[in-house]
Amino acid sequence: MAHKGMLRDGALNDKVIVVTGGGTGLGRAMGEYFLELGAKLAICGRRTEVLEKAAAEMMAAKGSEVFTHSCDVRNYEEVEAFRDAVLAHYGKVDVLLNNAAGNFISPTERLSPGAFDAVIDIVLKGTKNCTLAFGKNWIKAEERDKVVLNITTTYASTGSAFVVPSAMAKAGVSAMTRSLAVEWARYGIRFNAIAPGPFPTEGAWSRLLPGDIPDMLKIENQVPLKRAGDKQELANLAAFLVSDYAAYMNGEIVTIDGGEWLLGAGELNFLEAVPDEMWDWIGEATRKGK
Ligand code: HXC
Ligand code: NAP
Repeated sequence: MAHKGMLRDGALNDKVIVVTGGGTGLGRAMGEYFLELGAKLAICGRRTEVLEKAAAEMMAAKGSEVFTHSCDVRNYEEVEAFRDAVLAHYGKVDVLLNNAAGNFISPTERLSPGAFDAVIDIVLKGTKNCTLAFGKNWIKAEERDKVVLNITTTYASTGSAFVVPSAMAKAGVSAMTRSLAVEWARYGIRFNAIAPGPFPTEGAWSRLLPGDIPDMLKIENQVPLKRAGDKQELANLAAFLVSDYAAYMNGEIVTIDGGEWLLGAGELNFLEAVPDEMWDWIGEATRKGK
């Protein structure tokens, strides 16, 4: 199935959108669609060469402007320097997309304190650093109609074994989304989040499902729709949420996972494995409790 762009041409005209971790994976896919809709981009990450290559390719393909600045979101001074560089370049920022993350699977008892911090610092502290740096500036300049979009995961609300630092950090990002949606609404800043299920990217798959694991475990069978997400499907949702069409959406965390988390949650969902012929017998056996 081919997945197409959803919003009309020019839907993000004149918007300057900052995407942390925008040089790879889902951040890049969302950024590319924002460009297609008329936005200007500023992307950051730690690796300059990755950012520069991505920006050159995106500009060649989409014909719009992509500003790059290497920045480790764990470091507040670096985030402020990134923000100031974007402001010097574009003169304003309209949207902050907190997408940068770190993650890997591991039994928790095998994690060193440093390994725990590596993930929590990128996800929770990084999102806090960017939100604070860009938010304070909007508030001080008395600029309104600003948007923060955070990327969490479905297990931010359910929790998940083997990715405990990520689950803890993403839960904090969800709490920040809902808290500031209320507190900073008075400054004209709205906050939403997206909780994606599985969207194959090199960054995520190499750290969460390395080697043959996806084939061995048949990951798509965990999703009622029996497939992983397509990046364009996520980009469509992100573009809507940062656009003026979503101006009355504030404090929402939108799940996009093909029904994956509900499949794991519903009491009798395991009956999906029951074949048709057994349902005939079950139909008889359960009639009037016989
Ligand atoms: C156990 C590990 C480890 C691993 C690193 N460490 N990888 N421990 N298993 N696989 C430990 C190290 O030994 C070290 O411990 C500490 O963590 C810090 O490691 P560094 O390599 O120095 O950290 P750093 O260079 O800062 O890299 C951060 C990182 C890395 C998170 C470890 O993977 C990274 O850069 N990730 C960025 C991209 C990413 O993760 N993308 C996936 C996002 S997917 P000591 O004890 O020496 O301190 C996602 C949601 C997916 O978020 C949901 C899917 C459905
Ligand atoms: P990815 O390609 O690995 O993206 C992570 C990005 O974050 C990279 O560009 C990385 O660039 C950047 N980054 C990491 N640490 C950073 C730091 N300290 N400072 C600045 N930038 C940093 O993985 P992805 O799959 O696209 O993930 C994107 C987002 O989607 C993440 O928030 C992730 O949690 C979320 N998500 C993904 C999935 C999925 O199935 N893929 C599911 C749920 C949620 P550098 O390494 O160059 O810094």
